Amino acid sequence: MKKIKIQAPATVANLVCGFDILGMAINAPFDEMEFELSQIPGVRITHTDDFGLPEAAEKNVAGVVILKIFEALGYDKGVEVRIHKNIKPGSGLGSSAASAAGAAFGINELLGKPLSNEELVKFAMFGEELASGVQHADNIAPCIYGGITLVKSSHPLDIIPLSSPNLFVTAVHPQVEVKTADARQILKKNIQLKDAVTQWGNIAGLVAGILKNDFDLIGRSLMDVIVEPVRSILIPKFDLIKTKAFGLGALGGGISGSGPSIFMLSETEETAKEVGEMMEFEFNEIGVENYVYVSKINNSGIQIVD
Ligand code: HSE
Repeated sequence: MKKIKIQAPATVANLVCGFDILGMAINAPFDEMEFELSQIPGVRITHTDDFGLPEAAEKNVAGVVILKIFEALGYDKGVEVRIHKNIKPGSGLGSSAASAAGAAFGINELLGKPLSNEELVKFAMFGEELASGVQHADNIAPCIYGGITLVKSSHPLDIIPLSSPNLFVTAVHPQVEVKTADARQILKKNIQLKDAVTQWGNIAGLVAGILKNDFDLIGRSLMDVIVEPVRSILIPKFDLIKTKAFGLGALGGGISGSGPSIFMLSETEETAKEVGEMMEFEFNEIGVENYVYVSKINNSGIQIVD
């Protein structure tokens, strides 16, 4: 194989209580990436979107991942990469993870799959490091594996793919700027033991709810007493939108990744759409441009397309 086109899904990191350890892939939005092997050495990247991301390989999230893989495999030829991003950078929907994971996946396919999924995550983490300064895998793992994943440990890497409940996801991306680095900087460095105990209960409850397919348990475990109270002040109308989403019948939700996107889980598509309309209305009312996505949990991760 010389040429390939893939779709890399958006991801919701943290899943409210699981800061840096839980993540979920969703069906919309997704990025598209095309790769073509070349006899001319080097990694040449072009973007067909208008986000103005750097195209020099060593400054590009996908580029650094491919350079690392070429180096590790001793591959001395080259590749042309065309990226069309639909996941907006800085949305909190795993835009950099889609580029990084998509690059690792695409190159691995073209080179005859020398790398395992776990190795793909390891290489893709170099892209996350370039984007946010931290090698976190909570977006990359679900992007590659699909569904919901638990990153039990990043160093050494220990990924547990969980089962995937049949739920609908509403995600809204309000156009307010929240940089991941800033959203990490403002977090408290020390937490109270009683808060840690509450959080452990919620994480354990959420994982148990996912494995048991118990929607009620999932809903009452999507609570965060540590990160959300600090970060939510960066997102206009956050508390109101959450309260209204519960009123419409959503199971639960919160900040997607480091924000500013908000996500909610619902049992029916009808509820998920109503939640989306409410989110759009609330942000429109204060003149904040926004994008709403209603889809299902993505079970397949990155996919090859024709
Ligand atoms: N777990 C990371 C954070 C995700 O919340 O900072 C960043 O996309």
